[in-house]
Amino acid sequence: MATSAETVISFKSVDFYYDLKRPILDEVDFNVRKGSKITIMGQNGAGKSTIFKLINGALQPNLWSVNVSQKLTIATGYQVVLPEDKELSVKDFFQKYHGGDEKFNLEREITNILRVVNLKAPLNKQIQAFSGWQQARLLLAAALIQNPDILLLDEPTNNLDSEGIYHLTEFLKSYSNTVLVISHDADFLNSFTDGVLYLDRYTQKVEQFVGNYHDVVEQVKRKIEKDNMANARLKKEAQAKKDQANVFAHKWWKLRAVAKKMKEAAAEMEDEMVDNRREDKPIKDFKIPLQEGIGGVLLEVHSVHIIKDDEVTVKPVEVQLRKDDHLQLAGPNGIGKSTLLEKIVNGDEEGCKVAEWVKIGYYRQDFSNLDFWQTVYDCLRQAASEDMTEQQLRSTAAGFQITGDIMKAKIGTLSEGQKGLVAFCRLVFLRPGILILDEPTNHINFRHIPVIASALDAFEWGMILVSHVDEFVWQIRMDQYLDL
Ligand SMILES: Nc1ncnc2c1ncn2[C@@H]1O[C@H](COP(=O)(O)OP(=O)(O)OP(=O)(O)O)[C@@H](O)[C@H]1O
Ligand SMILES: [Mg+2]
Repeated sequence: MATSAETVISFKSVDFYYDLKRPILDEVDFNVRKGSKITIMGQNGAGKSTIFKLINGALQPNLWSVNVSQKLTIATGYQVVLPEDKELSVKDFFQKYHGGDEKFNLEREITNILRVVNLKAPLNKQIQAFSGWQQARLLLAAALIQNPDILLLDEPTNNLDSEGIYHLTEFLKSYSNTVLVISHDADFLNSFTDGVLYLDRYTQKVEQFVGNYHDVVEQVKRKIEKDNMANARLKKEAQAKKDQANVFAHKWWKLRAVAKKMKEAAAEMEDEMVDNRREDKPIKDFKIPLQEGIGGVLLEVHSVHIIKDDEVTVKPVEVQLRKDDHLQLAGPNGIGKSTLLEKIVNGDEEGCKVAEWVKIGYYRQDFSNLDFWQTVYDCLRQAASEDMTEQQLRSTAAGFQITGDIMKAKIGTLSEGQKGLVAFCRLVFLRPGILILDEPTNHINFRHIPVIASALDAFEWGMILVSHVDEFVWQIRMDQYLDL
């Protein structure tokens, strides 16, 4: 269906904050028209997921209004499973999101929608028993099954392989209702987006652009260039006024009043300068320091457990990780990659042996190895060595865009991408002997990905990496490949 003139969502001077000291939205205005396909862009922690919660009513604005057309149904595909949904069975999970229409044949609908997202899921299995990528598909399916007037999808391509992304794209192209998507995946967005809402973390404003993702990136770039030029001009003029004012003020005391006016004019010019888009900065280059006093074989693998056709079998393999060995672990979704990594970390996989004293730096997809009740500061302090100064700790964290107020926040309240950045910062402090990384690009803003890839590339002890994002893996030196 073509876009109509009818507005279905409108934000009018919306202010929102979780914590007064950290505003998320500042007098935000935008409209979404019926039938349009809109992307929400912005840095990690800007408030994209929060915007969805304001649209679907899970949160209320602190000031002014969010209006959504009456009688329209809304469905949200969340970024991660909500804590209260983890223990539901597949059937109860879909029941919860679909609601209780009597005539509706839930089981048949579940079967249909699981086909769309290409997942086999027994109806009585608990949501938390599914792996990361399976949960991502369940989240997506829970939104799609509602066939809503307004579909909100938060990072739907995380954990989808290329075939899954293709399916989803085709589905969205043919979907005739309004769709809002949060994603960093340029190719995916270009295939169906006709407008972009750009949320700037530093100004807390939303800018609205027309066109697909490429067009918008171009427009934003041009705007930055224009802003930079205007700023340079204003700065020069302001400086000239100040210099003149100083001369007046010192030499001719009668002209003090004139000097004061000039200074005011200069200040006004400086105010006019556009806050240069700090928003677009990637995280600082970083290096993961190495554990000292280890060597030889860091990890040996003789056999692994894999899951094939719902059956667990043991597969013999021969792998050794020594200094500077980077291993890519591959295999289809569901074969047991995440499970294997977790067992290696916990020392539960019989056929795998980590050398004594070797410290493992583990990046887990769902961050459940972090303590969600701990503050960011405490989490980092715990990982850092005792001789690390406060100043070093804070400046390293700042490189990951973890600033003062984020340090004080509890891990559980961070956005998903921020959790990822904290997890990387923690790896830097840990000085590991082996890095075990499970889908480390999920949720992380695309600007940071090359920086992360180059840090991993340079890591000189052992590494095991699972990632479905080829462009990421290609940027990292890989010495061994194990296909389960
Ligand atoms: N329940 C909460 N309590 C306190 N702060 C919160 C809460 N939920 C989110 N925040 C904070 O609000 C900010 C915006 O979070 P949000 O999840 O909307 O970001 P996002 O743009 O979706 O980021 P990402 O790209 O990482 O998913 C973050 O700084 C986060 O720490
Ligand atoms: Mg989010």
